[in-house]
Amino acid sequence: MPENVSPEIEALLKEDRSFSPTDDFRSKAHISDPAIFETAAKDPEAFWAGFAKELEWIAPWSKVLEWNAPDAKWFVGGKLNISANCLDRHVRTARRNKAAFVWEGEPGDRRTLTYFDLYRQTCQFANVLKQLGVKKGDRVALYLPLIPELAIAMLACARIGAVHSVVFGGFSAESLRDRINDSSCKVLVTADGGWRRGQIVPLKQTADEALKETPSIEHVVIVKRMHGDTVSVHVKEGRDHWYHRLMQDASYECAAEVMDAEDMLYILYTSGTTGKPKGIVHTTGGYLTGVYATTKWVFDLKDEDVYWCTADIGWVTGHSYVVYGPLANGATVVMYEGAPDWPQKDRLWEIVERYGVTIFYTAPTAIRAFMKWGTEWPAKHNLTSLRLMGSVGEPINPEAWVWYHLHIGNARCPIVDTWWQTETGAIAITPLPGITRTKPGSATQPFPGISAEILNDKGDRVPVGGGLLAITKPWPSMLRTIYGDHDRFVRQYWSRWGRDIYFTGDGAKLDDEGYYWLLGRVDDVLNVAGHRIGTMEVESALVDHPKVAESAVVGRTHEIKGQALAAFVTVKEGVTASESLADELKKHVANKIGAIARPDDIIFAADLPKTRSGKIMRRLLRDIAEGKALGDTTTLADPTVVAKLKDQYESQE
Ligand code: WTA
Repeated sequence: MPENVSPEIEALLKEDRSFSPTDDFRSKAHISDPAIFETAAKDPEAFWAGFAKELEWIAPWSKVLEWNAPDAKWFVGGKLNISANCLDRHVRTARRNKAAFVWEGEPGDRRTLTYFDLYRQTCQFANVLKQLGVKKGDRVALYLPLIPELAIAMLACARIGAVHSVVFGGFSAESLRDRINDSSCKVLVTADGGWRRGQIVPLKQTADEALKETPSIEHVVIVKRMHGDTVSVHVKEGRDHWYHRLMQDASYECAAEVMDAEDMLYILYTSGTTGKPKGIVHTTGGYLTGVYATTKWVFDLKDEDVYWCTADIGWVTGHSYVVYGPLANGATVVMYEGAPDWPQKDRLWEIVERYGVTIFYTAPTAIRAFMKWGTEWPAKHNLTSLRLMGSVGEPINPEAWVWYHLHIGNARCPIVDTWWQTETGAIAITPLPGITRTKPGSATQPFPGISAEILNDKGDRVPVGGGLLAITKPWPSMLRTIYGDHDRFVRQYWSRWGRDIYFTGDGAKLDDEGYYWLLGRVDDVLNVAGHRIGTMEVESALVDHPKVAESAVVGRTHEIKGQALAAFVTVKEGVTASESLADELKKHVANKIGAIARPDDIIFAADLPKTRSGKIMRRLLRDIAEGKALGDTTTLADPTVVAKLKDQYESQE
């Protein structure tokens, strides 16, 4: 049983409300026969191959799965191109003139790209990349705002067999630099800026800082997002090029490269338990099959839907459920660049109304913020177009679930609470909206063909109760390795029990009806506002500051963000702890990693409490941060306080 089960979670487990699909929804859903779970469990390979057959292959596979644990090959020998599956396949049909992306910028500018537009621009940019010397297997870094060019650049890479590595636009210069260097990217695609809460995010300026130490970068392409001279852009002769200039002369024709099912599609960095982010590697055939299948069934996606996943493409949710999954299904996808409360707190509902959004997928943090802002904001808009809603990224508390159901879904729309990870590539535990009776706060059951189980420390299956979440059989969209560090991949994910069992890093509980309740991470990874942050990363950023001697970072509960970062800091000899130093340290972390990693609390301590063997007593620190061990947590400068608490805790350990 994970040690961090809070009273809130205990209460959540007693949740007894449930919601069944209506007859109307069930009768129209892609999948409504519960027998599918058994069919898929009997022969998962045949189940997945069924979806793969709905896609376009240049050459068929000879074998569905080759499993040399923990190394999987799916659709062995099969050849395909994912960009052709997302574009060419639709352009040959009436979908040619269907909107692929309906995009809105934060300032209110709008663009619609049909499948034909997207196909052409992708081909053009693929040719641009080729002209810049990008070849199959080369890595290309993408550091862009949420604009259509980000999807175009991804699809263009995939078209020519280059591997994309998208870096979220909120990351710092150092984070960008480290990610570029870890996989030796040859080209960087960025923009002059993006909009966030009325401010310009000067991406190229940040990129310039990173580019001082990225020897592998040969060319930089800059998308012009800003008008006039609102932001100053340095263009380095010979290395930097404007996107629109290169596109002007690029041909519309670019044959899609023949890719092996197991050729690398992308790298996406995510936080782990060390200071160094992991480059999660996904390949082509299995990943496409996984995102195609889950998008179709979990969102019950139909041709006439208007689908909106609010995630930034910089995270895996955007890769799988803004770009590849929906486009492989030929969907119309809404994209919005900016903040949900800009210029007013009804911006998202205005967008739902304007485009008649039918499927809406967002994160619990956002839902909790909507709750706090009040029902008057959604009430101003006609949201009757909605027919299904989703949640992803963190556990959703039943209150937020029910609020979402009542005030956004008008008590009509099924809610799919989807559990998955950067590593799983696609949704793994989720309701199927035409089948599953949902319970607020539970992600319900594994998707057909996914063997998610709850195991105890010894690796025994827990039939009812709490334990560690594991996946006991390979699945098509699983990660294949950590870029450049296969040993870490084996150690991190396949060593807890055996080489053939995947450890998710999450704790979970099974109730007596077989429903899964996710309980959060059991490792040193925090989930702040749905973003994964490694405590070690933040600790390294803090000790990098000249005034800091030592630091330990823990999570504490936060009303909206789920978790907040509390950083315990000891300062060097002769340095005085102060409010202004706390601010300086917060800023320092934001500069080193990005604003998402900025600590909420800095707690100065004379010493960090450690066990005799030198391990930091994180449970004590968590209790202090939660305000359980001490009333006021702002300063702990008195060394006797920590010492006393430490004695108390040691006697309990
Ligand atoms: C957490 C995001 C509870 C979990 C797609 C996981 C969730 C981590 C849920 C992965 C959910 C994601 N309920 N927890 N529905 N979805 N998580 O890689 O701890 O950014 O391990 O992928 O988010 O985060 P990642």
